[in-house]
Amino acid sequence: MKLAVIGGDGIGPEVVAEGLRVLRAVHDKVETTDYDLGARRWHETGETLPDTVLDELRGHDAILLGAVGDPNVPSGVLERGLLLRLRFELDHHVNLRPVKLYPGVTSPLAGDPTIDMIVVREGTEGPYAGAGGVLRKGTPHEIATEESINTRFGVERVVRDAFARAQRRPRRKLTLVHKNNVLTKAGDLWSRTVTEVAAEFPEITVEYQHADAASMFFITDPGRFDVVVTDNLFGDIITDIGAAVTGGIGLAASGNLDPSGAHPSMFEPVHGSAPDIAGKGVADPTATVASVAMLLDHLGLTAEAAKVEKAVAGSLAARAASAGQPLSTREVGEDLAQRAVAN
Ligand code: NAD
Ligand code: IPM
Ligand code: MN
Repeated sequence: MKLAVIGGDGIGPEVVAEGLRVLRAVHDKVETTDYDLGARRWHETGETLPDTVLDELRGHDAILLGAVGDPNVPSGVLERGLLLRLRFELDHHVNLRPVKLYPGVTSPLAGDPTIDMIVVREGTEGPYAGAGGVLRKGTPHEIATEESINTRFGVERVVRDAFARAQRRPRRKLTLVHKNNVLTKAGDLWSRTVTEVAAEFPEITVEYQHADAASMFFITDPGRFDVVVTDNLFGDIITDIGAAVTGGIGLAASGNLDPSGAHPSMFEPVHGSAPDIAGKGVADPTATVASVAMLLDHLGLTAEAAKVEKAVAGSLAARAASAGQPLSTREVGEDLAQRAVAN
């Protein structure tokens, strides 16, 4: 496996080190290349993602990324110039975000809910596309527009991906989350596309929820969701809610997929660089390790993926049952690696 590694900023390198520890524990044919991208490089060279680096990344089987973003870099420079550029250039149109409450993990929600859904977040369009502009900057009449781009091609391919996933899951349910009561142009495109594709999947129950109500139901009744398909921005927001109700942002994994395989897919925790805890060795690497399980699965290494997934479940159950001190980043990584080997 030729793996490109981008530790990035803040806790990124700390959690990625543990992700690699677990990966190497289950798969001995990993050839990694480290890419020094993020705040340090930007400060030194002004570069976020040089074209030459992007070209090299294309030659890998997959990318493992920690996090990007730094309080001493203007907001958006690294997020857009590095992370979103990777997602766009490598056509990561399926941003896959499982939202799952593992046995033993305490949810802040009452009544021990069952939460097991997959959010299929569109990854290359919507308000993230970067269209828009600023007029009369700095005047009292400044106008800032941020346009949401939604193409039939872009919406249809992610909707099809979500239907195919729903088809493989026992509950066979798909919920479109949007805001078609206000965003009538994009919302209508999404709704029509779901209705049309649904005709090819008669076994699947299709629902629609407005994004505001969906945010409420993620908290009051998360068990109603199975596969959720949604646009880039709604997907960003609801998956942080999903993380919060399933034990916290330190556990939430993601894959930025180009399901066609034309470009390497990229795996990363849902969380950011967490400047408030960076360098302290206390970040939870579980989300990154769970993202490594997704990476293995994506590359067809299903037995290895299952070992890592089982290690995550076992470690979370053990941590929930123990009343001891919280473990360090490294201790969690070592525990996960040991469990993965034992599985
Ligand atoms: P964040 O996810 O970095 O942090 C939010 C809170 O969660 C913080 O209190 C943090 O300490 C905690 N947290 C996050 N990951 C944790 C972990 N593994 N273990 C324990 N606690 C953890 O979000 P933010 O504060 O909104 O953003 C900080 C920076 O990260 C910004 O520059 C933002 O743009 C960037 N960001 C990057 C990504 C990414 O690279 N994919 C994602 C989100 C935010
Ligand atoms: C995430 C992050 C990114 C996003 C930012 C850092 C660009 O919040 O991966 O969820 O909004 O997609
Ligand atoms: Mn986010």
